[in-house]
Amino acid sequence: MSLNSFSFRPPVTEDLPALADIFNHEITTSTRTFRAHPVDLANRQAWLEDIQKEQYPCLVIVHSREGGTNGESQLFNIVGWCNLSRYRTQEAYNATAEISLYIHQNFRGLGLGSQIFELILAEARIRGYRTILAMVAMENTLNARFWEKHGFQQRGILRDVGMKFDRWLDIGVYQLMV
Ligand SMILES: CC(C)(COP(=O)(O)OP(=O)(O)OC[C@H]1O[C@@H](n2cnc3c(N)ncnc32)[C@H](O)[C@@H]1OP(=O)(O)O)[C@@H](O)C(=O)NCCC(=O)NCCS
Repeated sequence: MSLNSFSFRPPVTEDLPALADIFNHEITTSTRTFRAHPVDLANRQAWLEDIQKEQYPCLVIVHSREGGTNGESQLFNIVGWCNLSRYRTQEAYNATAEISLYIHQNFRGLGLGSQIFELILAEARIRGYRTILAMVAMENTLNARFWEKHGFQQRGILRDVGMKFDRWLDIGVYQLMV
């Protein structure tokens, strides 16, 4: 799959069904997110409005490919997203952000997560964030490896803070100084 067929842009309302599908796959099949119930479009709309209102860095990945029965049109799919969000409500945390990054399961290991992360990091620098946190459910060892590869350092492990699929789960706190 050529990386030339992927591009990055801020999300729009039309992207929300695809973004909900990617998220819901992880919610229902994995511990990568601690959410227990699938999100609906109203939930994603509220998420998008919050991102736009607060101007958090956020990009989606668009995959374009030839399509249509006669092959003349281009089809566009959303295959992932990355955003920063507020870590805690108090003003003292204004320059701290938490990161979310999700790539569709059929498009992992292609370098897309790394590319979109670098774009979000560049945006974080422009906007003056001081530090980014990634909260990683520790049984997903590949995820921890991804953040470490991108310069994040583990600051500690919170034991048994989550319960999903009838098991206690640890969270690793990973930090990058922007
Ligand atoms: C973690 C994730 C964002 C990485 O994106 P990606 O596009 O697959 O990553 P890249 O191709 O840029 O980089 C590959 C590296 O990511 C890591 N990785 C994590 N999950 C992976 C997967 N399923 N397949 C391949 N690599 C994966 C590995 O460290 C790999 O490096 P390696 O090849 O040296 O082992 C992606 O796998 C994903 O969306 N996972 C599910 C959602 C999630 O857990 N998000 C993080 C929430 S904090």
